[in-house]
Amino acid sequence: MKIKLFSLSLLTFMILSSCSDEVIVENYFYDKEDYDLMSQYIDIPTSPYDYTLDFPDYITSFVRTDVNANMATLGRVLFYDVNLSSDRSISCASCHKQELAFSDNVAFSKGAGDRSTTRNSLALGSVINFSLYYGDQVFNGIPFFWDNSAQTIQQQSTRTIANPNEMNMPLHDVVDRVNELPYYAPLAEKAFGTKTMSETDVLDAIATFTNAITTYDTKFDKALESTFKTYGTLNGKEKNNFADLTAQENAGKNIYMTNCSACHGLLAGRPGKINGNNGLYEVYSDFGEGSYNGNAKFKIPTLRNILRTAPYMHDGSLATIDEVLDHYSTGIKNTTGLSDELKSGNQPKNMYFTEDEREALKAFFGTMNDNEIVNDQRFADPFKQ
Ligand code: HEC
Ligand code: HEC
Repeated sequence: MKIKLFSLSLLTFMILSSCSDEVIVENYFYDKEDYDLMSQYIDIPTSPYDYTLDFPDYITSFVRTDVNANMATLGRVLFYDVNLSSDRSISCASCHKQELAFSDNVAFSKGAGDRSTTRNSLALGSVINFSLYYGDQVFNGIPFFWDNSAQTIQQQSTRTIANPNEMNMPLHDVVDRVNELPYYAPLAEKAFGTKTMSETDVLDAIATFTNAITTYDTKFDKALESTFKTYGTLNGKEKNNFADLTAQENAGKNIYMTNCSACHGLLAGRPGKINGNNGLYEVYSDFGEGSYNGNAKFKIPTLRNILRTAPYMHDGSLATIDEVLDHYSTGIKNTTGLSDELKSGNQPKNMYFTEDEREALKAFFGTMNDNEIVNDQRFADPFKQ
């Protein structure tokens, strides 16, 4: 015992004396030289942030929450790197802006060579964005893009990078380029144990980061969570008024449950259906997932952060949330593929919202704004200007 105490105090003495000698030994996760080199270009923490997904309890029971922090850190840099586009002008973040919940505020985003996308940028940061990645049973089968044509972020990114209107680069050129940039080798080594990345490595890192962007820090989630805690289960209780919402927000929630949730879902902002047609046009020019027989079909997007993600719809044709409510109020067109949920007999089921109902719906949407995701340093641009 005495010996142990002695050695402990010796150790303490040695530490103290080393401090007093002003030898500051910082605990770098990266090799110090590597870190200093990276720091000339990017601002990343000395050791990776924790990217573990932080879900409310009502969700954690059925999703995976672990995230490889080294891959996410590398993915974050790739997500913000304009070197992924042919003319080095565009990164993923050019069209998926953090302050807009990772969407864009124009109908069509600008891509490489000043070209334009042909559809509206989709917001990131919801369960639908990582459903397949996490392979859980509850959220299975919800793919990516307005036409649901990509099964994984890896597939989505491969196509986005190659798309002439977006990044306009063959993936192998991207890989050659990033392997020459000095700040990637140390990040790649931590993520994959090798300084040189393969195509799969680049895609996996982007996917890990993109899948880690989640939006569950909202008034809505907290209210749902306390309902879950009160009853020990949701089991339909999400239909009740929430104690933590105002009367107007609850009124909006009820209108939403009656008119919208069959398609857009309620629980976790997960859509109730994968695709549908909401009568935006009588005759469509873009058919989305539908065939060319006039029955257009599009992804039913999550309405999380919806007040931040204008303009709306696959073509960004509705500029404001009021225009969206005008559409569902009086503007649903009688098109051949119109979804049953929006039909009454053979006619469009326009909803004729009163002014109070519109205000209530907007108040409810406000409860789905996540104020963390737009400021979270873990998802922010790491590049030094
Ligand atoms: C030039 C603009 C642009 C760039 C650059 C861009 N995106 Fe997108 N993104 C879009 C548009 C537009 C859509 C919708 C396209 C569609 O559905 O046809 C989209 C859709 C997505 C989706 C599907 C979301 C969903 O809910 O279905 C994901 C995920 C995504 N992008 C991630 C990325 C990543 C990762 C990168 C970088 C490798 C990237 N994007 C680069 C514009 C862009
Ligand atoms: C038939 C199922 C269905 C119902 C019911 C429905 N929607 Fe939609 N909603 C869709 C589809 C499909 C789209 C995408 C349409 C497109 O882009 O062409 C959409 C798109 C939207 C968008 C645009 C999202 C974005 O990111 O651009 C908003 C906002 C929206 N709906 C709100 C509502 C509200 C509010 C209600 C209830 C009043 C509602 N929806 C009812 C199917 C539905």
